[in-house]
Amino acid sequence: MSKFKRNLITTALPYANGPVHIGHLAGVYVPADIYVRYLRKKGEDVVFIGGSDEHGVPITIKAQKEGVSPQAIVDHYHQMIKDSFAELGISFDIYSRTSSKTHHETSSAFFKKLYDEGKFIEKTSMQYYDEQADMFLADRYIVGKCPFCGNERAYGDQCEACGTSLSAKDLIDPVSAITGNKPVLRETKHWYLPLDQYEDWLKKWILEEHKEWKPNVYGQCKSWLDNGLQPRAVTRDLNWGVPVPLDEAKGKVLYVWFDAPIGYISATKDLTPEWEKYWKDPETRMIHFIGKDNIVFHCIIFPAMLKAEGSYILPDNVPANEFLNLEGDKISTSRNWAVWLHEYLVDFPGKQDVLRYVLTANAPETKDNDFTWKDFQMRNNSELVAIYGNFINRTLVLTAKYFDNKVPERGGLTDYDREVLAEIPAIVKRVETNLDGFHFREALKEAMSLARLGNKYLADTEPWKVIKTDKERVGTILNVCLQIAADLSTLMEPFMPFSSEKLRGFMNMEVVAWDKMGDGVVPAGHLLGTAGLLFEKIEDEAVQAQIDRLEAAKKANEMAAAKVAPAKANVSFEDFQKMDIRVGKILTAEKVAKTKKLMKLTVDTGIDKRVIVSGIAEHYAPEEVVGRQVCVLVNLEPKPLKGIVSQGMILMAENADGSLSFVSPDKEIKPGCDVR
Ligand code: MF3
Ligand code: ZN
Repeated sequence: MSKFKRNLITTALPYANGPVHIGHLAGVYVPADIYVRYLRKKGEDVVFIGGSDEHGVPITIKAQKEGVSPQAIVDHYHQMIKDSFAELGISFDIYSRTSSKTHHETSSAFFKKLYDEGKFIEKTSMQYYDEQADMFLADRYIVGKCPFCGNERAYGDQCEACGTSLSAKDLIDPVSAITGNKPVLRETKHWYLPLDQYEDWLKKWILEEHKEWKPNVYGQCKSWLDNGLQPRAVTRDLNWGVPVPLDEAKGKVLYVWFDAPIGYISATKDLTPEWEKYWKDPETRMIHFIGKDNIVFHCIIFPAMLKAEGSYILPDNVPANEFLNLEGDKISTSRNWAVWLHEYLVDFPGKQDVLRYVLTANAPETKDNDFTWKDFQMRNNSELVAIYGNFINRTLVLTAKYFDNKVPERGGLTDYDREVLAEIPAIVKRVETNLDGFHFREALKEAMSLARLGNKYLADTEPWKVIKTDKERVGTILNVCLQIAADLSTLMEPFMPFSSEKLRGFMNMEVVAWDKMGDGVVPAGHLLGTAGLLFEKIEDEAVQAQIDRLEAAKKANEMAAAKVAPAKANVSFEDFQKMDIRVGKILTAEKVAKTKKLMKLTVDTGIDKRVIVSGIAEHYAPEEVVGRQVCVLVNLEPKPLKGIVSQGMILMAENADGSLSFVSPDKEIKPGCDVR
């Protein structure tokens, strides 16, 4: 029996400076939701906490870029994130936000208590300051080269390339993210949590008492602890955040990583007057679902804060996931390399479970993993449709056809029937063991094995053949199948709640509790509902459209990143005038045989009609260019190309991606007129 009476499940609070993408979902929200739904189905007391992280420099930087207030940014994204989570079925008991009054009060009081009890140290130090912007450069306001991996765009608090947590002083050649200026150093005072004082306690608590934490989490904690902990500033010189509740701290706010995790407490307060039961009773089991970049904050810093405060419980587990990549590349908000949840919900209406399924089947639990649209389509078509959906469909269609849509009576069971029925509790057990250990992919795989089992049973027993000779036997077979179908609706519910509900509708059945799964869940004689398709095939066009969108994003990034060549040395006007450039009109065009690039054109230059060979064949079809007005360098030395003498050159603009475009007059010009 567990020593816990209730569960407090938290999910990392996403920054309200952009929409949520599949990386967030696979790493944090989908596994947390599966876990919570599983606990609820087992009848456990559980609260599921989420909310938006609305402070921090990423938000003020975004606001500045868009010329709006930080509040406008967080209002917009908070609503968007909240709505899209709800639509995906992430079943938070509360989705709160850190700009709320409760949160400001709670985090402010938390700081004040630690301050009053002398838990902080005060330090005056020199910090980077942007004289033009007239402000201190905290965290992401300062960028420079990472001393560990050489990434040129590392931030003052972290390098996103190598994941190292940094302080602004570590950066090589730092510049202000606002003005690009070289910062100066200025004196400022801050409050620090002396993590070094908690080191021994943390070592014992994590390294000795929580050896069961996932290896990636335990390993990261160990390496932090082995390296030795330093005092950490918990205040910042910024004007967006929770003001530091001290008279001498005008213009300072709590560091976002100090206030944000307290957001879990504030949210619970907003959820229930009994919040203290969840936060202060050691019989509560607290679990933080997070991504790997949040490990140090949830395993070391926040626990040290809670320990310093003294009245709160500590997390029992912190099942952090690795990262999900997209089509082989790191997901990136700034590069628009992502699948955005709100867009997915529009592009694939009613397919929430498909995304939940694919992200779980492919979850980055032990290592980074890759999401591809082809895999998404394949898992839908050959797993959800072909295995789970197909089993349900055959079972329900045959029951409707042979038994008037009523669960048939059972005759005698064969050994095989008994074996199959005995597999149900064994599968349930394996799913449980995996869920209890936070192995969601494995759990889902086991759950799917029940659908596979059903399919195999149908294929082996062939009721559509047996019906010709032995209707009673078919009744038994379908009865067994219907038990499996009903159990699937329960077993799959934590993973895919929408299709489970649909399936219960097909079968006209009520919700079944987790521990009621097994044989005999649907009684003989029970009238089923109207069946439909549990899952639908996803066609090539739908995934191609997504792949095309990503290709376009990649292209836009390459274009944005492309550098233009530096200017060439000056030329004299006389030199320029030596070039005789005229407007011409293309009269005929054909590809030059056995070449990829060359096109043979005849051009009316106004002076004459001449042949010009141009390297445009990969960019234009001959019929696209005939009749077009172009600029022609007419006094270029003639040159034989593949046996054709080219008498001049058509001027083309070359784009950053290498594509070519004609440079054409924007109104009809008489051929032969000058270009100068
Ligand atoms: N906003 C942070 C991030 O996206 C997570 C905050 S989790 C909390 O990385 F505990 F601080 F709330
Ligand atoms: Zn780095």
